[in-house]
Amino acid sequence: MITVKSNNALRYHVYHMVTLFYAAQHITYLDELNPQKADLEVFLVEDRITIDFLGAIKILDYRERDLNIMRRAVFLLLREKTGKELPWGILIGIRPSKIVRELIEEGFSKEDITQKLQATYLTESPKIHLAYEVAMKEISLLKRIDKEGSCDLYVGMPFCPSRCVYCSFASNVYKGNKYKETYLSLLLEEMDMIRGFIEEKGYTVNSLYFGGGTPTAISEEEFETVMKTLYEAFIQGRNLLEVTVEAGRVDSLTKEKLYTMKNYGVTRISINPQTMKDETLKIIGRNHTAKEVQKVFYEAREVGFDNINMDLILGLPGETLEDVERTLTSIKELAPESITVHGLAIKRASILYEEYLLEKKYLLQEQRDLNLMFEKTDAVARSLGMKPYYMYRQKNMVGNLENVGYAKEGYENLYNVVMIEEVKTIIAMGADGVTKKVEAGQIERFANFKGLNDYTERFQEMMEKKMRFLHT
Ligand SMILES: C[S@@+](CC[C@H](N)C(=O)[O-])C[C@H]1O[C@@H](n2cnc3c(N)ncnc32)[C@H](O)[C@@H]1O
Ligand code: SF4
Repeated sequence: MITVKSNNALRYHVYHMVTLFYAAQHITYLDELNPQKADLEVFLVEDRITIDFLGAIKILDYRERDLNIMRRAVFLLLREKTGKELPWGILIGIRPSKIVRELIEEGFSKEDITQKLQATYLTESPKIHLAYEVAMKEISLLKRIDKEGSCDLYVGMPFCPSRCVYCSFASNVYKGNKYKETYLSLLLEEMDMIRGFIEEKGYTVNSLYFGGGTPTAISEEEFETVMKTLYEAFIQGRNLLEVTVEAGRVDSLTKEKLYTMKNYGVTRISINPQTMKDETLKIIGRNHTAKEVQKVFYEAREVGFDNINMDLILGLPGETLEDVERTLTSIKELAPESITVHGLAIKRASILYEEYLLEKKYLLQEQRDLNLMFEKTDAVARSLGMKPYYMYRQKNMVGNLENVGYAKEGYENLYNVVMIEEVKTIIAMGADGVTKKVEAGQIERFANFKGLNDYTERFQEMMEKKMRFLHT
C-alpha cells in the first residue's frame, strides 16, 4: 500500500502519476487536511510546489502553472526511488498515435515531434518512433475511406462463455442468462432502425465490426439469425471494404458458426489465444486450451478464412519472458495475418485486482521483463512480415506500455484505425456501443446502455434519444 496526500486541486493529476508506478497496489489518498504523514506529499504553496517522497524532497518553481512541470517532477522522483523505467514517461493519453498524426498533419518533422514529446512528456525515442511509424501508416490507410457521406458500423454482443479475470468490457456469462432472448430481439430491432437511417441518409458503409463480449458466444441458431440480419441490413450489395467478427473465444466457435460467418460475407475474424500457456489460460478464466486454439485456427483456414487476427496479452499473472517466447513460437507456426498485442490493464473492479493482486496470489513482472516481452513480440511480428498500424493505451496498464495492432501489408483493420483516430462517424449498435458523430473535426458521442437490464428495459427511451441525436 502507498499513501498519498496533496492539495485537493492537484489530487487527480498526482494520482495518475502514482498509478503509473503502483498499478497493482492499493493507493490510499489522504485529504489535504489530514495530519497523518503520507509516503508521497505534493503541496502547492504560493508559487512553489514541494514534493516529498519518503523523505526525498524536491522544490519547484510553479509560476507558470503548467501541470506537466509538476507531473515531470513527481514522475522523476518516483522513477528514481522505484527504479522502474517507464518508456512513455508522463504521457497517459490513450491515443499517442493521434497526437503524432495531428503533429505530422500540422507540418512538424519527425525530429520536431521527437523533441517535443521528449521534452513535454519524457517519452523515450523508441516509443516516439513506434507512434510515428503507426501514424504514418494510419495516414495512408485513412485515405482509403476519405469519402463524404460514409460511415463505419459497430455491433456489440455482450455475452461470453465465461468471464475472464482481467475483463471490464460489457460481458455477461451467456449460459442461463435471463436477458438473452430479449437482448437479441432488441438488437435486431436496433439494427433495423439504423439500417433505415443509413438508407434515408444515403450513407455508404466502409467497414463493419462485430465485437463485444464475444459475438459467437450465443447458440448456432441465434448466431445464424443475427448474422443473416446483419448481412441483409448492412453487407449485401454494399461493397464494404471489410467485415470483421471478433470470434475471440475458441470455446464459443464451431464449424457451423465459421461457415455462417463465411456465408454472410465476413472477411476477417479474430481467434484470440491471449497466451498459449494452458496454466495461465486456466488462471485467467478462459475455458480452453492452447491445443484448441490451434485446432479452431486450422478449421477456420479450412472454411476459407485468409485474414485471421490473434490477440495476445503481455504481463498476464505468473507469466515469464520464457512463457511469452513460447507463445510467440506457437503463433509463428500458425502464421496469422495480424496480431494485436495488449499490455495487461488492471481494472480496479476486476476479479484479477480484487482476488489475485491485492491478495498477493500473483506478483507482477519486473518492468525490465515487461519491456523485453514487448520488444520480443515486436520482433516476432516483424519477422512474420507485419508492421504496426494502430495503437492505443489504457489506464493502469502493467508497466505503462501500449496495445499495438500489427498486420501484414493489406491486412490492416480499417475499423480499428477509425475507432482510435476518431476521424469518421461510427454508428454503434448493441449494449455499450458508443456512436461517434464526426463532423468538421467535431466529435459528439451517444452511448447505448451498457447493462443488460437497462438496455432491455429502457430500449425505447434509448432509441428515441439516439435517433434524435443521429438526425440533428
Ligand atoms: C473486447 S475484448 C473481446 C475479445 C474476445 N471476447 C476475447 O476475449 O477473445 C478484446 C481484447 O481486449 C484484450 N483485453 C481485454 N481486457 C484486457 C485487459 N484488462 N488488459 C489487457 N487486454 C485486455 C484481450 O486481448 C481481448 O482479446
Ligand atoms: S471473453 Fe473477451 S470480452 Fe469476454 S470476458 Fe473474456 S476478455 Fe472479456
